[in-house]
Amino acid sequence: MNEIIERVKQKMPLGKERLQKAVNGYLSGVFSKAEMTAFLRAVCDFGMSDEDAVLLTEVMLSSGETLCFKPREFPYADKHSTGGVADSTTLIIAPIVASCGVPFLKMSGRKLGHTGGTIDKLECFKGLRTEISVAEAERIVDNVGAAVIAQSKELVPADKALYKLRDETDTVKSLPLIASSVVSKKLASGAEVLVLDVKTGAGAFMETVEEGEELARLMVRILKSAGKKAAAVISDMNSPLGEGVGGVMEVIDAIEVLRGKGGRLRSLALFIAGKLVSLAKGLSEEAGAMQAEQALESGAALNKLKQIVAAQGGSLDLFAEETRENVLKQQTGALTAEEDGYVASIDLVKLGLVARAFEEKGGMGMIVPVKVGDFVKRGEPLSLLYGKSSPQTVAALKGCFRIVKDAVKPNPLIYRVIV
Ligand code: URA
Repeated sequence: MNEIIERVKQKMPLGKERLQKAVNGYLSGVFSKAEMTAFLRAVCDFGMSDEDAVLLTEVMLSSGETLCFKPREFPYADKHSTGGVADSTTLIIAPIVASCGVPFLKMSGRKLGHTGGTIDKLECFKGLRTEISVAEAERIVDNVGAAVIAQSKELVPADKALYKLRDETDTVKSLPLIASSVVSKKLASGAEVLVLDVKTGAGAFMETVEEGEELARLMVRILKSAGKKAAAVISDMNSPLGEGVGGVMEVIDAIEVLRGKGGRLRSLALFIAGKLVSLAKGLSEEAGAMQAEQALESGAALNKLKQIVAAQGGSLDLFAEETRENVLKQQTGALTAEEDGYVASIDLVKLGLVARAFEEKGGMGMIVPVKVGDFVKRGEPLSLLYGKSSPQTVAALKGCFRIVKDAVKPNPLIYRVIV
C-alpha cells in the first residue's frame, strides 16, 4: 500500500492493477482500516487523474453484480440528484419519462443528513412497497413504464465498505471518490441513459458552481466511458427547490406540479425529463423537451404517477383534492418575517435538519413559500408548519432566514449543463 500512496502523493498514474490491489485488499482484510484511510486521505489531499477515477469506478463496480434488463424499444433511463431540500423531482420525472414511452427504473435511498430521500417520500402513499425485487420491478415497468424501488443492500459492496470508512474518517469530500461512489452505483443499477443533477449552493455538498461543474464533468466522463448516454445539470440549492419540505408536503407539491402548478420544481423536473427523453430516443433537445412538456400538460404524467403508485401497492388517497385540503387545514404554526425586506439567504442545512426533526416528532412537514431574492412584508410567512407543531420547532427555524433592506438578485435555477 505504501507504494500506491506514494504514487498518489507524487501524482503518478495508478492504473487498474494498483487500484484493484488497494480496494480488493481492503475488502479482503489484507489492508487495515488505517492503511486504507491513508490511501483515501492521500486521494483527498492530492487528487487523482480522470483516467484513474474511471478505473477506480470499474474496480468498485466489479465488486458486485451489475443489473441487466431485457431489451426494449428505448433504453432504460434514470436520474440522480446529489441531494437537495424540497426536491421531489423523481416523482415528476419518472411519470413524464414513462408517459413518453421511455422505461424508467430507479433505485433510491432514504433521508440523508438534511435532505429527504425518495423512498421516504414514496412511502407517504399508504401501503406502497419499495422493497421490490428487480424481477418484479421489471414486470411493473412492463405494465406501467416505470418503477422506483429501494436500493439493494448488495449494490456495489466496495462502495458500501469504503463509504462507511470515508464517513468515519472525514475523507468523503474528494471529487474522484464521490464520482466513483455515485457512478459505480448508477452503473450497477442497470440504466443506459442518465441525467445527473449536481446541486450547488448553501444547501449542497458542492458549495460553488465551479466545484459542482468539476464533479459533474467527471461523472459524465466516467458514465460515457462506460458506454452510457449521460448529461448533467448544475442547479441551484440556495433556496428549497419546491415549497413543500418533508414527506407528505413534498409529495403533495409534486402532485400539484403534475396538475399544472408552475415554479422552479416544475422547471427543473421538466428540463431533466426532456433531456432524458431526447437522449433515450435520439431526438433533438427541443423535441425531447416538447414531448416532456406535452406529457405534463396533457395530464398523462399525472395519470402515470397514479398507475406507478397503484402498481407498487400504494393508496391513491393523496391524489384526492379533499386529502390535500385536509392536510392544509392542519397548519399549526408559522415563522413570519419580523420586518419588511428581501430574503438574502436561507440556511438550508439547518432548515432541512429542523424539518427532519419535526417529522420525527410526528409533524407532517412544512411549506416554505419564499426563495432567495423574494420580497417579504412584516408578518408574512417564511415557513408554515403542518401537523403536530411545537413552539420549539418555530424557534429552531428562526435563524434560518436572513432578511435585508436592499434588493437581492435571485439565483438562476440552472447554472450550467454538461453534455
Ligand atoms: N453520495 C454517494 O453515494 N457517494 C459519495 O461519495 C457522496 C455522496
